[in-house]
Amino acid sequence: MINIHLVAAARPNFMKVAPLYHALERAGWANPVLVHTGQHYDRNMSDAILEDLGLPAPDFHLGVGSGTHAEQTGKVMIAYERVCAKHRPDWIVVVGDVNSTAACALVGAKLWIPVVHLEAGLRSRDRRMPEEINRLVTDAISDVLWTPSADADENLAAEGVSADKIECIGNIMIDSFEMLRDTIEQASTRSELGLDDAGYALVTLHRPSNVDQRETLQPIVDALAGATAELPVVFVAHPRTLKGLDRFGLRSTLSDAPQVHVLEPLAYVEFMNLVTGARLVITDSGGLQEETTYLGIPCLTLRENTERPITITLGTNKLATADSLSGDLNAILDGPPDRGKCPPLWDGRAAERALASLARRSGVHA
Ligand code: UD1
Repeated sequence: MINIHLVAAARPNFMKVAPLYHALERAGWANPVLVHTGQHYDRNMSDAILEDLGLPAPDFHLGVGSGTHAEQTGKVMIAYERVCAKHRPDWIVVVGDVNSTAACALVGAKLWIPVVHLEAGLRSRDRRMPEEINRLVTDAISDVLWTPSADADENLAAEGVSADKIECIGNIMIDSFEMLRDTIEQASTRSELGLDDAGYALVTLHRPSNVDQRETLQPIVDALAGATAELPVVFVAHPRTLKGLDRFGLRSTLSDAPQVHVLEPLAYVEFMNLVTGARLVITDSGGLQEETTYLGIPCLTLRENTERPITITLGTNKLATADSLSGDLNAILDGPPDRGKCPPLWDGRAAERALASLARRSGVHA
């Protein structure tokens, strides 16, 4: 049996790990080992999502929790090095761009354990984003780079990565969505909130650059309160954002506006039920830019740049600011429907391609 560590840390990682975990389990030649670093620990940021995705309790839980970047990265490295010393895997698969991704890639590289980066090659070219640093570090030291789209292949080639390391497997998050599509459609989140299909805006925000300072959060909250004149707004708020709203006294701006629901984080199925029914999405999340492109739902991304440009060139995404939000929103509501195009290999079969890659590279004739 080939032992494969699948490292997951934070909410957006679980939907990328789950399809591969299930594919490895079915394959028969591999033993998938789930490693949870504990970067996210609230039930709806972690365990409830694992359950929705049919994942078992993690084989190793590092329990690192929150902290500064150095604290979090360091704690993950120390804890994961101990795991690898005792239970050395044949492969380590790290996903996404969170602190734990870079930390575990570093541990693997230094112990000469081959590391695969799932969702490699994305670049915002904005090194003020912690995630961009994590992407650069992880890609530089990984042995295999599984990319979601051709732009990522080009980024890696431009950085001098040799072609034999790069494999475009497509977007594995779409596999999770397709695996649970029926359950998502049958969930009752939007009907319980009394929302009409395609009749509300769904909002999520969590980037430090948007929510950690009053100067950035207040104009966004004001613009969202203004949007409620056009349609109901459902704001599913990350813990970091809830803290910002309280710290800067901005909750009342939202609660005083008509037709606003501010909700705590939701598990995957409940949340995706809200996504699939939305008229449009306003977000700063990477994953939602992709999910809305796949679903053909207009998306306004409150960021200066994106590491996922294909969601703009092919999909339904548009960059926005607090100032542009009201005009952008009205353009969507009044304009002709534009469902965009689905990028190649965002087809629910990325895990199959990942499995074939691992089999070939492990010398297994599956
Ligand atoms: C992290 C990732 C980001 C990813 C995001 C998804 C990094 C650098 N950032 O950001 O790329 O898009 O996850 O959500 O790795 N908190 C809770 N409960 C939890 C987890 C966090 O209350 O379960 C609180 C923490 O106390 C902290 C804040 O949320 O105050 C931020 O958590 P942290 O994991 O450090 O970063 P995120 O902002 O979630």
